[in-house]
Amino acid sequence: MPAHVIVGTQWGDEGKGRVVDWFAAQSDIVARYGGGDNAGHSIHVGSEIFKLHLVPSGITYPDTICVMGNGMVINPHTLARELRELAARGVDISPGRVLLSDAAHLILPTHIALDQAMEARRGGRAIGTTSRGIGPAYTDKAARAGLRAALLRHPGELARQARARIEQHNRVLEGAYEAQPVDAEQAIEALGEVAAFLAPYLSDTPLYLHQALAEGKTLLCEGAQATLLDLDHGDYPYVTSSSATVGGAITGLGIGPQHMARVTGVVKCFSTRVGAGPFPTELHDEMGDRLRGSGENPWDEFGTTTGRPRRCGWLDTVLVRYAARINGLTDIVITKLDVLSGIETLQVADAYRMDGTTLRELPRDLEILACCEPVYQPLPGWQEDISGARALADLPGAARQYVETVERLAGTPVSQVTVGPEREQVVETAHG
Ligand code: GDP
Ligand code: IMO
Ligand code: MG
Repeated sequence: MPAHVIVGTQWGDEGKGRVVDWFAAQSDIVARYGGGDNAGHSIHVGSEIFKLHLVPSGITYPDTICVMGNGMVINPHTLARELRELAARGVDISPGRVLLSDAAHLILPTHIALDQAMEARRGGRAIGTTSRGIGPAYTDKAARAGLRAALLRHPGELARQARARIEQHNRVLEGAYEAQPVDAEQAIEALGEVAAFLAPYLSDTPLYLHQALAEGKTLLCEGAQATLLDLDHGDYPYVTSSSATVGGAITGLGIGPQHMARVTGVVKCFSTRVGAGPFPTELHDEMGDRLRGSGENPWDEFGTTTGRPRRCGWLDTVLVRYAARINGLTDIVITKLDVLSGIETLQVADAYRMDGTTLRELPRDLEILACCEPVYQPLPGWQEDISGARALADLPGAARQYVETVERLAGTPVSQVTVGPEREQVVETAHG
């Protein structure tokens, strides 16, 4: 398998990190292709939990090369902290096994200040961003005003360009948003310090990946965010600013489409969304609270990056079908099935109803989507603890029926079902 892409099919936090961790065992290279530290990918390795924001989820396998691609936006301070924390836990973070594309863009402190000021200005129409400066950093990239990571090699030029950018951002912060400016000299000094630490990681990663694929190495492309958060294909404007879908893996890593042999969509068995925006199957009742959990389990639905409680609701297979179409999914992994144990009757949406008509495809127009009601199929629940299941035959009949229903409604084969956050808590199917 030359390149295998893992993408989120919903609004993020489907469990992509743990799915990447599973497939990383058979991959030479794991590469993130988009987004920045707005992502939070949790992986459980034995008794340890790793919460990764920038470093790819293959990092705990000592022989796996981890690449941060040109499609990413990098807060250099977060990256340095994450690498140092991993080193303190005994993980090998040496340059050569961790590569940072010199064409990735840098997030400056003023990008973060602008993100916050713009959200405050949006008032009731705020996107609910992660406040990590993601939108403003990609805006500068598209405006050809951004700073590429390659500058980390050139302290003088880095300081000059960062100063010019920060001063320009400060004028906007003060003039347009009446917000506090950022101390440019302090920011530049901090950037200089972190640049010295990060420069050895810089690499021409598209060239590296091209050569590795030519040598027959296997590449796992780690999606962040998800299909409904994708800048083009999500429910704009309640999206992130990167291409989270499969096309983003091609531009965000600089490799050709002929390598993409498998595209796996990660489907959480219920829906969550952490920011604002449409959510047809959202539950505002006790069942929503039940799906979220109280926060005492590490997997309960509170943001890895921001700690915000996630909005929760039933699974919406209209979205999964949409994700299958946009990404050309070859298979899906259903995650967190164990969380549904103990619920008497489950609901799965397979269409929407609007003004007496039934819609089976996701409306792209938010005004239309706002008028849609989900059409549910009720399914029997199960009471058993399924966290020890390792084969489909170990699952109670109702759990198998749930998986088969999702597979049928998604129109895509299920290759795996996860039944707990631990590495081995996986049920592989015949398609796995
Ligand atoms: P990502 O952003 O898509 O990588 O997902 P997150 O890591 O943000 O959120 C998924 C959460 O669910 C993490 O806490 C995972 O450890 C946890 N998780 C993943 N798979 C399972 C599962 O099968 N069962 C349970 N209970 N938790 C899981
Ligand atoms: P992972 O990779 C869930 C959401 C934010 C907000 C919108 C825009 O862990 O699945 P941004 O800060 O990107 O400008 O915010 O996108 N968002 C995520 N939600 N999981 C993520 O990543 C997310 N990354 C961004 O909550 O609604
Ligand atoms: Mg996450």
